[in-house]
Amino acid sequence: MIKKIMYECIDVGSEYCPCYLAETNDCITCSRLQGKSFCDCNWGGVCIYQRYFWNGEKVNPSRETYKAKILDKKMVGDNLIIFKISVMKTLARQLKQPGSYIFIRNINKPQFFDMPMSIMYSNEYNGEIHVAVQILGSKTKSLLSLNDEILVRGPYWNGLQGLKELKTLKASNALIVARGVALAPAVLVLKYLIKNNNKVSLIIDKGKIDEVFINEYISDLNLVTIESDITTEKGTLLIRELIKNNNYELCYSGGSDRQHCEVKKLLTELSPKTRFAISNNNEICCGEGICGACSIKIGKKVVKSCKTQIDTSYIVEKGEK
Ligand code: FES
Repeated sequence: MIKKIMYECIDVGSEYCPCYLAETNDCITCSRLQGKSFCDCNWGGVCIYQRYFWNGEKVNPSRETYKAKILDKKMVGDNLIIFKISVMKTLARQLKQPGSYIFIRNINKPQFFDMPMSIMYSNEYNGEIHVAVQILGSKTKSLLSLNDEILVRGPYWNGLQGLKELKTLKASNALIVARGVALAPAVLVLKYLIKNNNKVSLIIDKGKIDEVFINEYISDLNLVTIESDITTEKGTLLIRELIKNNNYELCYSGGSDRQHCEVKKLLTELSPKTRFAISNNNEICCGEGICGACSIKIGKKVVKSCKTQIDTSYIVEKGEK
């Protein structure tokens, strides 16, 4: 048995598939729509090539941009804003998945001000979503003046890697390590894991944000929380002890790539079988697999990380390709 890396499009089988990548023979999943003359995909749903063909070789409509009402805007510390936004109930429902995000923009700015923002909270009954925006550069600063309306495009789902590992975990132990603004997307991860009867320990590191701004979103969840600065020796020791003593089946790291590496190093040493999921930190610009801003190289393969789930758990028989 050997391990093989599989690449799966996050949009496959959704109402957004087939997308523009099918038109240019760049489909992430379908070998026919990659220009090959044979079928060699691992997708178990309705054939993408067939859908494309029946569509008259046309792509499905892509996500639209909506004008949405800002219900509330709250400043946390010096550089974090929590926007509460009213959206269609369908969109709110689609944004409940861990890893969900939207693009938001100042209503008076052109499209290149679009910025991806992780969903921290979503309520499909009243059509409300919450996002936490760290004010850093021109795009995020352009949101400071907004009080009434904001542009929203979505839903998008590839805000984390390791979705399969996370979604298949049931009645097990899980460790979440989240730092700074990455605490926001960790909320949906926590809720999903707890819904599946997992026992979750959460290490909270405020990072550069002054407050633990997710408290009101996690206060009613049954989980163990520990606050710590994970960049210190004491923090590393804490993670080390927790991994050693708790038999975690899954660990999720929300934070910088450096943090992912540090956590992965500890897992490899102390609990190599623990599944690992991480926040997707790549630069996301279009979110549609077109612009290439999010591209990463895995071996010789260029992967559009805004749309691609990289599955490293796939086992094949020796000799199989
Ligand atoms: S963000 Fe444009 S291709 Fe991924």
